[in-house]
Amino acid sequence: MALRRSLLLLLLLLQVLLVTVLSVSAYLAETGRLAGDNVVEVNRSQREFDYFALSLQWPGTYCRGTRHCCSKNACCRGSDTPTQFTIHGLWPDYNDGSWPSCCYRSDFNEKEISTLMDGMEKYWPSLSCGSPSSCHGGKGSFWGHEWEKHGTCSSPVIRDEYSYFVTTLNIYFKHNVTDVLYKAGYVASNSEKYPLGGIVTAIQNAFHITPEVVCKRDAIDEIRICFYKDFKPRDCVGSKDMTSKKSCPKYVSLPEYTPLDGEAMVLKMPTDE
Ligand SMILES: *[C@@H]1O[C@H](CO)[C@@H](O)[C@H](O)[C@H]1NC(C)=O
Ligand SMILES: *[C@@H]1O[C@H](CO)[C@@H](O)[C@H](O)[C@H]1NC(C)=O
Repeated sequence: MALRRSLLLLLLLLQVLLVTVLSVSAYLAETGRLAGDNVVEVNRSQREFDYFALSLQWPGTYCRGTRHCCSKNACCRGSDTPTQFTIHGLWPDYNDGSWPSCCYRSDFNEKEISTLMDGMEKYWPSLSCGSPSSCHGGKGSFWGHEWEKHGTCSSPVIRDEYSYFVTTLNIYFKHNVTDVLYKAGYVASNSEKYPLGGIVTAIQNAFHITPEVVCKRDAIDEIRICFYKDFKPRDCVGSKDMTSKKSCPKYVSLPEYTPLDGEAMVLKMPTDE
């Protein structure tokens, strides 16, 4: 009797064990599959970033290179073409001047930021018709490129696509470089030249940090302001060699952009690519 009872008990135990093993392995297979084609595949060979650079582009300089138009190109909005610095991206960087990129797989999904669209179109527009390459083969949108290449490397501070875009918009709103320059007398002009030192000083006075300034010939192309991981401003790494090998001359311009005239634009619109 006692022997049969313990045999039965043993069988029951074995059954429970079997079921457990089966469900655990099914679970592992499932999560393994998810890791394979979804979000959690962190590239461990790239260490955590050191600081953020908010890169802002000057449409007046960028749009002068416009050769053709398409609906996504904000240089083609006629009188609605942006006249202030717009966002290029929020980039995680290393203190040695290099940066991580494409840190894990998370394909850009515009639906996730649908509630931000008004702000995105206005303050973070594409200034070209091109399709930049995405991280995992193929080409995508400007926003997709920024999220996949740079955004995924802002972990653990920023962990998902929506947070990346909403955080970037918010720090952009808090640091209005266009306004800082405007109040110091540096306004868009196709005739004036401004001392680079004066522009840098205006930003230093406003945010107590030194920005990085990038030029195309003598025209300001981008201004970058940098942040610690808690979004307190700090100097940019590239700001130190500003006076030596950087791309800006001593006197720089902040060009006004004359949009392509309406008729040329309409004629060119159907060539959307
Ligand atoms: C991971 O990062 C390293 C270093 O940047 C790079 O060489 C490698 O191609 C990356 N691997 C993947 C799978 O993206
Ligand atoms: C920044 O300042 C400029 C000039 O004062 C203003 O026109 C613009 O609306 C401001 N931008 C933002 C995003 O607040």
